[in-house]
Order: sequence, then structure tokens, then C-alpha cells
Amino acid sequence: MGGTPLPDGIKLMDEQGRRIDGRLPGELRPLKIEAGVLRRADGSAYLEMGHNKVMAAVYGPRECHPRHMQDPTRALVQCHYNMASFSVDDRKRPGPDRRSQEISKIISEALTHVVFTEYFPRTSIDVYIEVLQANAGTRCAGLTAASVALADAGIPMRDLVASCAAGKVANTMVLDLGKEEDNFGQADIPLGYIPRTEEVVLLQMDGDLTADEFRTGLGMAADACKKIYDVQRDALRRRYVVADDGGSEGVK
Ligand code: CDP
Repeated sequence: MGGTPLPDGIKLMDEQGRRIDGRLPGELRPLKIEAGVLRRADGSAYLEMGHNKVMAAVYGPRECHPRHMQDPTRALVQCHYNMASFSVDDRKRPGPDRRSQEISKIISEALTHVVFTEYFPRTSIDVYIEVLQANAGTRCAGLTAASVALADAGIPMRDLVASCAAGKVANTMVLDLGKEEDNFGQADIPLGYIPRTEEVVLLQMDGDLTADEFRTGLGMAADACKKIYDVQRDALRRRYVVADDGGSEGVK
């Protein structure tokens, strides 16, 4: 990020305005979501967005431990984001690091905005996000998947959160940055958004943008979140159609 020089011979955008993976600036990577994929979890979802592969599992609401963390007025939504050591080109050192703590914190905060936490005082709702394969945008992919997993767990929510990033690459505003664009691009703005109420529940920015570019990027990411929201809802709908048919593999 921040306009790091590209290795020789690599171009982030060609003369026709196509990106390094062939997408147009406003195009998302292919997105697939499946809800209810883990039997032991209270709710779960598996998501693929381009080469990102993410599993989300929800447990709770359950008694919060250690007890001194309990809030007598509401549930705590606690996200645990983890990248598998085999999820990236260089082996990622196992265990928590500053990056995973930051991502866990911002996703917990985003989800707290949509869950009716006041219904479950003194409890914890634990959201596990495991990144199996990473190719940039994993915080957005994780938040999108976690939101479906919470709904799959039957946890009362105001709405789903959809998430996607916009950014600047080769002086052009683009949607949903891939790995090379994230590494060598000029800016990245991950957004967590509630399309129905148009509320922003996660917003970060890495790199430099003018105010106009920032507004353009935010608009692109918000529009993309509306499309992602439809895929999330469709995953939940499919989950219950299968359940009504008498169940099948993958349905608890
Ligand atoms: O994944 P996201 O874009 O939300 O977060 P990031 O910190 O901007 O990381 C961008 C990408 O860098 C990740 O998705 C991974 O593909 C890669 N990465 C890596 O290869 N090794 C790490 N230890 C961390 C990130």
C-alpha cells in the first residue's frame, strides 16, 4: 500500500482499463456463501471471494467467562479472527499478532451494532473467523461471513452487515482490491455497511486519497455491499429451503 513500486514488468492496470486479474474497476471478485456448514457450531458460514476462503462459526449466547468480563446489561460479541499458517504464500506464524487483534476488535464492534445484545445480559456471543486462504480483503470477507453465521445461529439482529473494500490503484478508484493491488496500490478503504439503513459500522483507510476520491470510493463500496447483501440473504434462504425439505448433508 501507499504506492510501493511494482516489480519490473508488472502493471496493475492495462491500457484498456483492465486490472491485473482482468476485472474492470467497479467489478467485485466472484462471491459464494454457504450457511450452516458446521454441525457443532450454533451457526456457521463458508465464504469464497475470489481466492479468499473463510469459515465463520458462532457459539452462544453462552455464559461469559471470565466472569469479571460479564456485562449485566448486555451480551459481549467477541470475534476471534485467525489466519491459518498455510493461508498465505509465506507461512504465517501461528497465534495472535497485532494485526489479528486489530481485525478481531473492529469486527466485534461492527457486529455489536447489529446484534440485540440487550436481550442476553451476562453472556458472550463468540464469533470465530478462520481464514483458510488469503488474497487481500479478508477482514471484509470475514465480517460478511460472520454476519451470515450469526443469522444462521438464530441470534436476533437488526440486519445483516455486508462488507467490501474500495481503493485506488494506478490512479483509478477500484472495488475489492486483490493481493497485488493491496500490496502495490495507492489506497484501500474497507467498509462494513448495513444496506437497509445505510449505516456504516466499519470504516478504515490505508494510503492517501483526496476528499473526492474518498467519497467516490465510499459510494462504490456501499453499492457493492448491496450486492453482497443479496448473496448473504440468498445463502440464508437456501439454508432453510434445504431444512424444510427434510434436511441434507451440511444441515444440522
Ligand atoms: O486481508 P485484509 O486486506 O483485510 O488485511 P491486510 O492486513 O491489508 O492484508 C492484506 C493481505 O496481505 C492479506 O489478505 C493476505 O493476503 C496478505 N498477508 C500476508 O500474506 N501475510 C500476513 N501475515 C498478513 C497478510
